[in-house]
Amino acid sequence: MTLPLWQQLTFLSPVSEQRAETHVAWLAEGLGAGTVADVGCGWAELLLRVVARAPRARGLGVDLDADRVEHARTVATERGLRDRVELVAGAGVEHLPERVEALVAVGASQVWGATPEVGPDDAYDQPLDYTAALRALRRAVPRGGRVYYAEAVWSRPPTPEAVAPLGGRDDELVALPELLDLAKEAGFGVLGFGESTLQEWDDFESGFAAGHVAWLAAHEPDHPEAAAVRERADRQYAAYLRGYRGVLGFAHLRLVAL
Ligand SMILES: C[S@@+](CC[C@H](N)C(=O)[O-])C[C@H]1O[C@@H](n2cnc3c(N)ncnc32)[C@H](O)[C@@H]1O
Repeated sequence: MTLPLWQQLTFLSPVSEQRAETHVAWLAEGLGAGTVADVGCGWAELLLRVVARAPRARGLGVDLDADRVEHARTVATERGLRDRVELVAGAGVEHLPERVEALVAVGASQVWGATPEVGPDDAYDQPLDYTAALRALRRAVPRGGRVYYAEAVWSRPPTPEAVAPLGGRDDELVALPELLDLAKEAGFGVLGFGESTLQEWDDFESGFAAGHVAWLAAHEPDHPEAAAVRERADRQYAAYLRGYRGVLGFAHLRLVAL
């Protein structure tokens, strides 16, 4: 009914080009012939950029969504990276090797927190298990290993309007100071931290809804599916603009294993 998200978004999270570049350069630096894994990689744009930047490195991307993984394979081939990047459609816990030199987990903590029967959407109905994710990431890298961990946090105390279209509970997320504590407790040093700006969020949310709007522009108003598509676009914008804009945040941590 709508276009694939990769046609509207560069990343499946509120990440600007500038922020991506900072993290790609940091991960690629010193990777040598090591492997960088991206768990919950989406269509693996960040992973492919790291591998392109580190010419001897290998990459492993894992995501449950087979269409996104297939798109990642196509892009890897187009960029001449296919022989150095393995892209797997499946559960992150099953395919993450015991040991890699660097890791990416961006908006993917539910990989470790949800029970296997619970899908990625349902996983947000319970408090996000940052600790399970951070401990699993720590186990998979050697001392000194670099991890780019990014996840949703509360930027401001949650309001009823903000939580209603999300998980419906104030304890779904923590704020940035608590997240840094959890990362340290899991055995990491925090080399850098930040939160997505409102502009990154606006770009992300409008990109998300743009597929619906593009569909409406390409079809007659009396198309049998038009009302449903319009309703989805309106719901998306209302959830954000009248709900969690400025309250839901996205934290970015540059972690080193201690
Ligand atoms: C918010 S998106 C982020 C994607 C990507 N890291 C990015 O920033 O562009 C989270 C991704 O995690 C994937 N995912 C959710 N649960 C997973 C699991 N158990 N194993 C692997 N991938 C999972 C989803 O399919 C989705 O593509």
